[in-house]
Amino acid sequence: MAAAGLFISFEGIDGSGKSTQARLLADALRGLGHQVLLTREPGGSPGAEEIRRLVLEGDPARWSPETEILLFTAARRDHLEKTIRPALLRGDIVITDRFADSTRMYQGIQRGDGADLRAMVDELHTRMIGVEPDLTVLIDIDAKTGHSRAVSRAGLEQRFEDMGSAMQARLREGFIALARVEPRFIVIDGAREAEAVAADVLTATLLRLA
Ligand code: ADP
Ligand code: TYD
Repeated sequence: MAAAGLFISFEGIDGSGKSTQARLLADALRGLGHQVLLTREPGGSPGAEEIRRLVLEGDPARWSPETEILLFTAARRDHLEKTIRPALLRGDIVITDRFADSTRMYQGIQRGDGADLRAMVDELHTRMIGVEPDLTVLIDIDAKTGHSRAVSRAGLEQRFEDMGSAMQARLREGFIALARVEPRFIVIDGAREAEAVAADVLTATLLRLA
């Protein structure tokens, strides 16, 4: 991305501890004097937060897989235009809780009209988003632990958490496979105390910054 700032995403299955770790990294980097913008997907701008409600609340069968890809991509485009790009142009460090890799995994492993949808996700990403994070932190955790953490957090947004442990296990494998081929990834073991995970995330981030 042609900007002065640094763009970091957190990825992982539901309940892996991404949100916790994104917040702890933002706090640590602010403590070191950096200007940090902490944001999330789907959402991160007023328009994208409206799309978040459309896509995560209500009847899970409301949208076809193809429509879902369009909604997540529309939300991301607004997030990029209104929040991420302006912050990077100011020179901030932008930390986002999920970005395009989530669509690649969650929507990409679904089937629509009989075909895998991953190619459609990538094609739309290239045309409508066109940027990748400088660094992606994958918080890796086994599906069972992630699932039990995620369901202990009751709420309206059950759309994807309800997919269950088997789907979360497939997503975990997908994220690990992506991390193996994309050098922007670092993989951190999330099945430990939050403070220990955060220390590893900070060390890896500072190494990458240097
Ligand atoms: P995610 O954003 O990946 O869904 P969260 O950070 O929201 O994950 O964490 C999910 C739940 O697990 C929350 O209730 C959180 O307090 C708890 N949690 C987060 N990190 C840890 C950890 N390292 N060990 C135990 N519980 C954790
Ligand atoms: P999130 O709020 O990060 O949930 P969690 O804290 O449980 O990980 O994301 C909400 C859900 O949206 C989550 O189940 C993953 C899903 N999602 C997609 O399916 N595609 C996407 O592109 C994004 C960003 C999220």
